[in-house]
Order: sequence, then C-alpha cells, then structure tokens
Amino acid sequence: MPKFQAPRGTRDLLPTDRAVFLRLEDTARDLAMRYGFAPIETPIFEGSAVYERGVGEVTDVVEKELFRVQAGRGGSERERWALRPEPTAGICRAYVQHGMRTWPQPVKLTMTGPMFRYDRPQAGRYRQFWQFDVEAIGDAGPAIDAEIIELAMAFFGEVGLTDVQVLVNSIGDATCRPTYIAALTDYFRGHEAELPEQERARLETAPLRLLDSKDERMAGLVAGAPVITDHLCSDCQVHFEGLLAHLEGVSIEPRLEPTLVRGLDYYTRTAFEFYRSGAEGQQEALGGGGRYDGLVERLGGQATPGIGFGIGLDRVALALAEQDPTPAAEPWRPVAVVVGTDPDDTVVRLQLATELRGAGLASRPDLTARRLGKQLDGAARAGAHFAIICGDELEAGHVQVKDLMAGTQRQVDVTELARDLTRAHTQHRHGDDA
Ligand code: HAM
Repeated sequence: MPKFQAPRGTRDLLPTDRAVFLRLEDTARDLAMRYGFAPIETPIFEGSAVYERGVGEVTDVVEKELFRVQAGRGGSERERWALRPEPTAGICRAYVQHGMRTWPQPVKLTMTGPMFRYDRPQAGRYRQFWQFDVEAIGDAGPAIDAEIIELAMAFFGEVGLTDVQVLVNSIGDATCRPTYIAALTDYFRGHEAELPEQERARLETAPLRLLDSKDERMAGLVAGAPVITDHLCSDCQVHFEGLLAHLEGVSIEPRLEPTLVRGLDYYTRTAFEFYRSGAEGQQEALGGGGRYDGLVERLGGQATPGIGFGIGLDRVALALAEQDPTPAAEPWRPVAVVVGTDPDDTVVRLQLATELRGAGLASRPDLTARRLGKQLDGAARAGAHFAIICGDELEAGHVQVKDLMAGTQRQVDVTELARDLTRAHTQHRHGDDA
C-alpha cells in the first residue's frame, strides 16, 4: 500500500472516469445555456458566515459537515472560511455583492464544480463531489419552478439516464410553516418516548428534519405525522397548485411527497428531489432543489425570490455505469500514430503528426527509437485506427497507411493524407467499409 493516498472520502478521477464527468459537465453547460442560464464561477471557499447564515447553523451540512479552512497564521475572526458545501449560498452572496438586482430579472446562473462535505463516506457519498447547479434569482414563480424542474429532467434525458422521477412538495413559508411546525412538534412530543435519542434532540432545534430521519425506527411515526400540505396558507396553496399545473403543461408527472423537507434551512414553498425509480433511499437522490425566497435577504440583500437545483454528478455517473457498464469513449485515443522505419528520424514523424492534428485528426507521433514492429504494436495498443509508416518512399512523397482495424495496408500521397484518413475514419465509424 503506497504511503500517500487520496484523503478518505475523496478519489482521483482517472482518465476514463474524468471523461464521463467531462461529458456530463459539457452537457450541463450547453443545456443550461440553451435555457438562458449564464455561467458563473464563485470561489471554492467563502467566509463561513455565508454558510452559517445562508444554509443555516443547525443543518447537518453546517453543524457537522463543514470543512473549515484555517490560514497558516491561525486567522482572525475576519478570516473564518469554509470550503463550499453547496453553491447556492455563494451565488446569492455574489448576487448581493455585485448588485445583480439592477440586472434584468430573473438573473439565471449556472455553475458546475466540486463541493465539500465532511460526511461519512460510502457509495455515492463523498467528501468531495461534483454538482451541476442552476439558480434563477428574482422570479417568484410558480411557472419558473416548473421550468427549472423540466430543465433537470431534460439533463437526465440528454445524458441518457432513464427512469428518473421527480418528487415534489411545498414546505410553506414564514406565514404557514410556524403553525405546521407547532403541530408537528406537538405530534412528536406525544410520542417522545418512542423517539431515538438523536431525533429527540432534533425535535427542539429542527423538528422538520425528523420527517426525513435516516433512522428506521422513525418510519412508522413519520407515516402518522401531520403533513405540511394540509397546513399551507392560501398563497402557498395557490403557488403549489400553479406549480403542478405548469408541470402538467410540460408533461412532467411528479410524485407528491409530503414528507420531503430537504436538509438546508433556506427553502420556502417548492421543494423537489430526483430519484431513479426504485432507488429512493436517503443516499440515492440524484439531485434536489427548491425555492429560497428569503436567502438573498439573509445574506444582506433586499427581499428577492429565487429557485434552483443541484444535481450530483458523481451519482449520475454511478447510475449511468450501472445502466450500461460499457466504458465511455476515450476522446484522446489517437486516430493515427505516425511511426517510422528509421528509429532516429523523429523530426519527420513529428512533422506529419503536427500536420494531421492541424487538419483536426487526433494523432500522435511515436517518438521512441524502437524498431518498427514495436512502434506498430504500440499504435495498436493505443487503440489507433491507423499507423502511418514513414519510410524511404517519403522522398517520393508517399507513406504507407496501415489500417490497424481492418488489417490492410496501402500507399497514400502525403499531400492527400489528411483528407484520405478523415474519409476512411468517418466511413469506418459509420460501418460503411466493413
Ligand atoms: P443538496 O440536496 O444538498 O442540495 O445536494 C444536491 C445533490 O448533490 C444531491 O441530491 C446529491 O446528488 C449530491 N450530493 C450531496 N451531497 C453529496 C455527497 N456527499 N456525495 C455525493 N453527492 C452528493 C443542494 O446542495 C442545494 N444547493 C441545491 C439547490 C440549488 N437548491 C436550490 N438551488
């Protein structure tokens, strides 16, 4: 076992894994931009207060899982930072800081990158993980709530994940939630003796969290608890009905889930999560989000509504691998490797490969002094379609093109090489030359 290892709960994304993530990130960015979301990048760490105030001090994410960052010198009060556990609070901090209120509303932003939570590592739960995030700030909904959910579903569709379902709920607002929380607290107090110790403690600080307790002993109690959708005020009720009508309008059939409360404090009204059908355990959410109409204000801005989602790319990658274990394409795999009969003539190999790359073909020269046979073996092992053999005929303007997949070889004029290879490679990909 090597002495130095990636920290527990993190992992190296080796080239084939990284290629999957790159494809997910590219799809995410392209899709979000098609929906009018502009890219933004906020720092990977923020003042801890952004999360304490934004996400909420008594959430698991802040209370237990925040990676606090200490500067070398120790750090003053002003220098209390934390690695971002999620992007929404940082993006809303940026909204306030840059006066985005004066931009055309809603301000639609997207970001994809690593997040950090000091959680107990397990399958699909890492201490560094990647999220595709979108936020629409400045629109009170409910139509945009449906648009955001539809965008997430379109992402799952474009990356090829089938069977994804959205669970939705309304968790009310400052008008109706306190009454609901009072009813919920009363209910659980009536069952206090049956509550596991941790849940009894949470009853005082975050009673809503009992609804999505990970403790199996809670299942029966939660099933009998009062549901928030019976306690919504009329504005929240109208909003929720509007959301459902718009979802229907874009042919999305949500599953209504009255115990879905989400783990971050900033949510109001619309809350949702995405699951693959039949994989609805706590660890399996592919993504989640909701409305956060109070967050910008909590971070020092004016009252501004907002809604967004975060999709866990690690979990999407795992689900895709389960669905289809065939390794993903490797875009760095060469179409052509330029080899040479004169072991020392690397200049000509380098020149030819450079020319092919200039024409858009993934190519590499073999720059070793190995014998031709070894160079050809290397080209085949690299998965190249063609080996370009530079020999004496080069003086007359010709090279040999060996098709490593078909096992054929022919002479090609150097001036025709790029066009010839492009045509032959495309034909092969479409199966025309079999
Ligand atoms: P979240 O539900 O905490 O929401 O995280 C969103 C997604 O990130 C989860 O559904 C999951 O797929 C993934 N995820 C979370 N923690 C881990 C982990 N430890 N390892 C692997 N994947 C993980 C948010 O973060 C909100 N900011 C979403 C949002 C955006 N709400 C409004 N706008």
